[in-house]
This record gives sequence, C-alpha cells and structure tokens, in this order.
Amino acid sequence: MTDTTPAPDGFRMDRRTALATTAVAATALTVAGCSSTSDKSASAAPNPTPAKKQGNVLANTSDVPVGGGIISGDTVITQPVAGTFDGFSSTCTHLGCKVNTVEGGLIKCPCHGSTFNLDGTVAGGPAPRALDPRAIRVDGDQIVSA
Ligand code: FES
Repeated sequence: MTDTTPAPDGFRMDRRTALATTAVAATALTVAGCSSTSDKSASAAPNPTPAKKQGNVLANTSDVPVGGGIISGDTVITQPVAGTFDGFSSTCTHLGCKVNTVEGGLIKCPCHGSTFNLDGTVAGGPAPRALDPRAIRVDGDQIVSA
C-alpha cells in the first residue's frame, strides 16, 4: 500500500518518505540549535570565582553626616561617630508610619511624635521599641544593602 502526498510543484512522494524527510529536517534543526547554544557557552570563559553579589546602593558615605543620618528609601542610615554606619528600617514601631527626618541627633516619626536615637533605640514615645535593624555595609565610598 503506497499512499502518495502531492507536492505543490508536482513532485510526488509517498507518506513514509514524507514523514522520514520531516523527521530528518526536525532533527537537523534541533542539532543546529543545540550546537549554536553550545558554541556560545564554549566560547565563554569559565568564571572560577563568581562576582561578589552586589547590594543596592543606598547612599554615598559622604551623604551621611557624622552625628546624624539620612533616610534612603525605606532605610535609615546613621553615622553616630565618624566611620561607623548603622542601618534601620524606616517603619516606626508604634503604628507603622515611615519616619521622615533625622535632625538634632534624632530620627523622627511625623505621625505621633516618636523619636529614636541614632542607634535606633526609642528616645521618646509612643513607640514601644527600637527601630528594626537593617543590614548595610560600606563598599568603598558607598553604603549598600547587605
Ligand atoms: Fe510613629 Fe505613631 S506611627 S509615632
């Protein structure tokens, strides 16, 4: 039994030949695709020491005054003494407002007047506890999230 499939140009082939031709073409495309991918990976040099994961840059160290602090996004960064930087969540521990200023050595919440020292501890209520610490690190002249 030979079933033939007419081709647009008048060429005729039987179904078995047509299926076999299609399978060969699909295999060739797959191999070509794989070899293209492997060529890319083969040309890339292996990286034996992966790059250190970079945190988000929050500020330059020079942006943070000694004996003061700044608010960068949702992070409070203070510098109680020269060269020592601390990070805190900007979420007030009273009812969750965002603290919005650092002045006079205090971190201030605008909602109900809580104030926090530069080490995050409560200076004045109604906040029940210190600001949550936020991991930061100094990377060169930048402060990044750790
Ligand atoms: Fe900050 Fe109330 S939410 S003092």
